[in-house]
Amino acid sequence: MNASLPEPSALAQSASRALKVRIAERIGKRRGWIPFSEYMQLALYEPGLGYYTGGAAKLGVAGDFVTAPEISALFGQALAHQVEEVLAATRSEILEVGAGSGQLALQILGELARRDALPEHYRILEVSPELRERQAQLFKAAPPDWARRVSWLDELPESLSGVIIANEVLDAMPAEIVVRSAGHWLVRGVVLDPEGQLGYQDRSASAELAAALRARVPGPGQLGDGYTTELNETAQGFVATLAKKLEHGAMILIDYGFPAAEYYHPERRQGTFMAHYRHRAHDDPFFWPGLQDLTTHVDFSALAAAARAAQADVLGYTSQSHFLLNCGILELLEGSAEDPSKWLPQTNALQRLLSEAEMGELYKVLAVGRGLSQPLLGFARGDRGSAL
Ligand SMILES: C[S@@+](CC[C@H](N)C(=O)[O-])C[C@H]1O[C@@H](n2cnc3c(N)ncnc32)[C@H](O)[C@@H]1O
Repeated sequence: MNASLPEPSALAQSASRALKVRIAERIGKRRGWIPFSEYMQLALYEPGLGYYTGGAAKLGVAGDFVTAPEISALFGQALAHQVEEVLAATRSEILEVGAGSGQLALQILGELARRDALPEHYRILEVSPELRERQAQLFKAAPPDWARRVSWLDELPESLSGVIIANEVLDAMPAEIVVRSAGHWLVRGVVLDPEGQLGYQDRSASAELAAALRARVPGPGQLGDGYTTELNETAQGFVATLAKKLEHGAMILIDYGFPAAEYYHPERRQGTFMAHYRHRAHDDPFFWPGLQDLTTHVDFSALAAAARAAQADVLGYTSQSHFLLNCGILELLEGSAEDPSKWLPQTNALQRLLSEAEMGELYKVLAVGRGLSQPLLGFARGDRGSAL
């Protein structure tokens, strides 16, 4: 597999080697073994060297993956209609977590400006210094009336009201990989072999992890030996923290994933872990650590449970295609038809966002929050909250 992937530049290789030394030190300190979640944390977020905290190009043609706002501005414009509804009810602000290139923020602000519904503040919480700089550059060239509303947070506020948005952020949070063996769970860890190569080693799951799996995995008895899956307690904790802080408003989480019954389906035997490098998805987390994205799909049932445990309401859950259609993406397309040269590319982009074979069905939208009447615009038709 690795042989078929393109070689990184010499500079990138040397950053990756430095990260590997850091990972090896950590494994040494932990007596030869770290859980996969700790490896994922280091590979993505180690200061200065991780995939998100180092210099990798990440999003876009020169990077490793493309997200919905990079495919079409119609995505952010449609989402803006949902945002507008919540802003009208809360008279408050927007917080975007993990804003990538900044395109989504630009699309949302542009559409809100067109509808005379701009909020005073659009705050961004961004862990990547490189992406934060890209976002700042993008807004330097934006209309000043939008740009002056944008600011960056270094940490979460004590409390907030309004709309929280996270598109494709939770899939990058460090997950635990677990494996079924003789009626028990093993936890996958990372070790160094005598030649200094990184590899997997499974151990018995701790009592805490086994209990967390009991709470989240329906019907583990049906999962045979070797069944491999993941549990993402970091993502659950993140949603719980934000749900507690949200006094009035909604948190809109968009990502690829399923409810628990599908996530832990007996036929999904290999789990959902995937690495993304130069627009190719593969399953080797040890290929040039720090130079590729590492992801797992999202268990939306777990996120809904985390929000409910924080006394927040589940406001809606549906596929990306239903959500965007409910938010009026087709009307936006019709409205953009004045320029015939844009018609074909716009239609192709829409097809990628909505088609069941592409992002329309695999990607879901979950809204949780407090103090809002339901249904929200994006979930008016096709709500699947009962599947969570
Ligand atoms: C896959 S990109 C998605 C970017 C953007 N939302 C979009 O749709 O194009 C993930 C984004 O989340 C950020 N990120 C990852 N983990 C984060 C965390 N724990 N807190 C804040 N941002 C995070 C990354 O730096 C990046 O901006």
